[in-house]
Amino acid sequence: MRKLNIDVFRYNPLDPESKPHMQTFVLDETPSMTLFIALTQIRETIDPTLMFDFCCRAGICGSCGMVINGRPGLACSTQTKDLPDHIVLQPLPFFKLLGDLSVDTGTWFRQAWERIESWIHTDKTFDPNEEEERMDNELANEIFELDRCIECGCCVAACGTALMRKDFLGATSINRLARFYIDPRDHRTEEDFYEIIGDDNGVFGCMGLLACEDVCPKKIPLQDQLGIMRRMTALQSVRGIVPKFLLDRLSPRRCGCSCSEQHND
Ligand code: SF4
Ligand code: SF4
Ligand code: FES
Repeated sequence: MRKLNIDVFRYNPLDPESKPHMQTFVLDETPSMTLFIALTQIRETIDPTLMFDFCCRAGICGSCGMVINGRPGLACSTQTKDLPDHIVLQPLPFFKLLGDLSVDTGTWFRQAWERIESWIHTDKTFDPNEEEERMDNELANEIFELDRCIECGCCVAACGTALMRKDFLGATSINRLARFYIDPRDHRTEEDFYEIIGDDNGVFGCMGLLACEDVCPKKIPLQDQLGIMRRMTALQSVRGIVPKFLLDRLSPRRCGCSCSEQHND
């Protein structure tokens, strides 16, 4: 059985006496131990003041994101057997520090979702008696694939652009917008999407080094979505120069009839 040396970042911004420092805890590793279990053991048996977030313990709620040996990841999905016996845990950068390993991702995600207007835009009036609209299975699965984000913030914390540019929307927002872009129930035009992400705080600020996709615990294809949305916005930026029929042909967007075809096919 290994002895684990776990160095944990400690700081309570609300305590004027508190100074940022690292504190080492020594634990006996147990079978199937996750970092969540290790941190809980520290809190229950060594230091009840240790702050960290968790809820589901199953990689679903996105609460337990932290920097694990220099790399953003989920504490509940990371087993200690996959790490060396010296483990360094730090809070996710970029987000507001609440204390020790706990950060406020919620405020950031709320403003991001509001900026990209993260809801279906339609002029249709809701009729509760109307039959449900059918959607092609393949398209429904594609939308579901992009809807799997658990808002853990790991991709934002790993993003060089986000760390330099505080208003950068990040790969998670661009992925979220791509989810509405392919949804035929959303009646926003390509110009509307361009207005949201067609600048340096959107797709044009992205350096394309793909740290975001590397660290995403849900393995969301962020690279593909960045590429699709970059192509769409690049095409929109030349509207007025390139004839409309050509823009429509080159657009990566699906047509709005749920036929699962793309305009550029
Ligand atoms: S690819 Fe773009 S969004 Fe992803 S980490 Fe790099 S700069 Fe950030
Ligand atoms: S895209 Fe992945 S890394 Fe980013 S917030 Fe969503 S689940 Fe986390
Ligand atoms: S506790 Fe929910 S994702 Fe880790």
